[in-house]
Amino acid sequence: MIREIIKEGDEVLRKVCHKVERFDFRLHSLLDDMYETMKESDGVGLAAPQIGILRRVVVIDIGDGKIELVNPEIVKVSGEQTGQEGCLSCPGKWGIVTRPMKVTVKAQDRYGKEIKIKGTELLARALCHEIDHLDGVLFLDKATFEDKE
Ligand code: CO
Repeated sequence: MIREIIKEGDEVLRKVCHKVERFDFRLHSLLDDMYETMKESDGVGLAAPQIGILRRVVVIDIGDGKIELVNPEIVKVSGEQTGQEGCLSCPGKWGIVTRPMKVTVKAQDRYGKEIKIKGTELLARALCHEIDHLDGVLFLDKATFEDKE
């Protein structure tokens, strides 16, 4: 089911999300809805608070297939990259953000099994951006804009 994407300015996007404890059908339908909603909007990542659910759940697809992360944590970073970034909650806004070049993330899958994922370049950027959402952080907080309004 396609959900409504919450836009910047809504306080929900500034909350710290709760850890997922139950890996049940509700979580699975949340993950399915998030993926569908992200695809519909041509996004490469979506975090649960962006559809109003304050849980530590993220989906990413940079074109290499679906990645589902429950309770993700960045455990290692290295290098640096500076590039353009946007967000489905901030339509029409693009800013320059510096992120690590490589990240390692520890998380759980939809069944609660521990997984580890390594990302470089765009995937590293997406992982950082989406995990930030779970702590109420938007890319706008870290971005510089060429045309300040
Ligand atoms: Co975003």
